[in-house]
Amino acid sequence: YSEDEKSEDYLFKIVLIGDSAVGKSNLLARFARDEFYPNSKSTIGVEFQTQKMDINGKEIKAQIWDTAGQERFRAVTSAYYRGAVGALLVYDISRRQTFHSIGRWLNELHTHSDMNVVTILVGNKSDLKDIREVSTAEGKALAEAQGLFFMETSALDSSNVAAAFETVVKEIY
Ligand code: GTP
Ligand code: MG
Repeated sequence: YSEDEKSEDYLFKIVLIGDSAVGKSNLLARFARDEFYPNSKSTIGVEFQTQKMDINGKEIKAQIWDTAGQERFRAVTSAYYRGAVGALLVYDISRRQTFHSIGRWLNELHTHSDMNVVTILVGNKSDLKDIREVSTAEGKALAEAQGLFFMETSALDSSNVAAAFETVVKEIY
């Protein structure tokens, strides 16, 4: 095998899901390129980025898929989930409605992918402390009840962004 073919052994597909504007695209931009867009537009269709990660000295490639939270901008759902081994289920800690939607996203994930897909519940925008609507304890409790990992992140100030992706990849690996 060439180096390239060998690393294919460790290509993991990870999907980002959650309501529109929770920060899925910015989590990916922060993780893959260390960028942040204060005025980003809704994603249309599907985008993905492949990010190399070093896990216990092994090179892993995470292929991270990002689509629109809004139904009308989404691509074919089954294709989006096909082959996924990890998922980041994202809500916005400053908008309770996005937390209420998590059950629906979990249903969709379980309908279209393997039950064993490693999933982390991500409360994004932890920088918005002053307008928080979902407590850390509530996030944690939901994650525990559903058997998910849990982390609060901020794509704006970078906190826990790499850690959230790494938690999923380490568990898959
Ligand atoms: P869709 O593509 O429509 O599903 O949205 P999305 O989930 O990809 O959200 P996106 O990353 O486009 O972010 C939506 C808005 O939230 C943008 O204005 C971002 O700048 C902002 N945003 C994203 N992450 C954070 C964060 O951690 N903190 C703050 N304060 N704003 C954020
Ligand atoms: Mg987006």
